[in-house]
Amino acid sequence: MLQFGGAPDANAHPRTPHRVHATVPHDYEVSPAPDDMAAEQSINSSWAIREAVAVLSAAGVASPRVDAEILAAHVLGLPRSKLPLAPALDPGRAGRLRELVAARAQRVPLQHLTGVAPFHHVEVSVGPGVFVPRPETELLVEWGLSVLDGATVVDLCSGSGAIALAVAAARPDARVYAVERDPAALEWLRRNAASSSAAGSAVRVVEGDVTDPRLLADLDGAVDLVLCNPPYVPAGTLVPPEVARFDPYPAVFSGADGLDLIRDLVPRVARLLRPGGWFGVEHDDSQGEAVPALLRADGRFGEIGDHRDLTGRPRFATARLATVPARRV
Ligand SMILES: C[S@@+](CC[C@H](N)C(=O)[O-])C[C@H]1O[C@@H](n2cnc3c(N)ncnc32)[C@H](O)[C@@H]1O
Repeated sequence: MLQFGGAPDANAHPRTPHRVHATVPHDYEVSPAPDDMAAEQSINSSWAIREAVAVLSAAGVASPRVDAEILAAHVLGLPRSKLPLAPALDPGRAGRLRELVAARAQRVPLQHLTGVAPFHHVEVSVGPGVFVPRPETELLVEWGLSVLDGATVVDLCSGSGAIALAVAAARPDARVYAVERDPAALEWLRRNAASSSAAGSAVRVVEGDVTDPRLLADLDGAVDLVLCNPPYVPAGTLVPPEVARFDPYPAVFSGADGLDLIRDLVPRVARLLRPGGWFGVEHDDSQGEAVPALLRADGRFGEIGDHRDLTGRPRFATARLATVPARRV
C-alpha cells in the first residue's frame, strides 16, 4: 500500500488536473530554514521534521508533513511509526535530510528519494525512467485477486512490475507474466522481478509491445486474468511537476483523448483470455463511460462494469470474455 498512515492524500495519484492546484495547509509556524541549522550539531528529530514541513509547505508539496516524516524515517533507517522515539539526528544525517528535503522541494518524487514505492503488500524499487506506482492501482489488484479463478495472469504495461509482483506475492501458485516495452522501465522491472523471485514469488518478464498481435501468442485463449494500468491521460492535460518531469511521457499520455492504447489493447486482450477469463483496466476519471463502451464495441466481452476509487471517481473498467461468442453491436 502506498500510504503511510498519515494524510489520505499522502501519495495520491497526481495526474488529474484538479489535484494540480491542491491547496496546502500552513499549519506550522515558519521557523528558520534548515540551512540556518548549525551544520556540526546534532538536531532534535522532531525539530528537523518541523523545519522540513515548513520548507515543503512553502514549495507547494501536497502532503508536507507525511513527506517530511517519511524522509526523516528514511534517513534514520526507522519505520515512520517509530519517529516519536527517534534519537537526535547526528550532523551527517541532518545534512542528508536537508538535501532530501531540498530535492523534494524541487518536486523530485518522494519515492525517487527513498528509492522505493510500497504497493499492496510488496515494495518495488523505483527511480528515473520508470512510472511510480499509485495507491489507487491497488484497487485494481484487489479486484483481480477477488475474481482470479485459475493460475495464469498477465500484467500488461507493467512498468516497475508493481501489479505483477503484488499478484505473485498474493498468489504464489500463479504464473504471472509482466509485459513492458520501454527499455528504462524494463531495467527496473527486471530488478524487481529478481527480488521477488529471491523472495519466493516468480514473475516472468516479457519485453514487448502490448498491441503486438504476436505478443504471448503461445498463451492465446489460456489466460485467466489480464490486468493493465496503461498510459491514459489525454495529451495536453496539465499535470503536477512530479509527473511532468519524472514520469516518462509514454507511461502517462496516450493520444488526444487518452484512449489510444486502450483502444489498441482490447482486441489483444480478447485473444489472450480463455472463455470466462477476466480483464481489468485502469483509466482516467473522465473515461468511466468511454472505456466500458470500447469493451462493449469489441463484442466479445460480457459482464462489463466500471469501478470507482475511494473518492468516488471512476477508476477502472472490468469485463469477462464471453464463453459463447457474442454478436458485435
Ligand atoms: C501508467 S504506467 C503503469 C506502470 C505499472 N503497471 C504501474 O501501475 O505502476 C504505463 C506503462 O506502460 C508502458 N507502455 C506504454 N505503452 C506500451 C506498449 N505499447 N507496450 C508495452 N508497454 C507500454 C509504459 O512504458 C509504462 O511503463
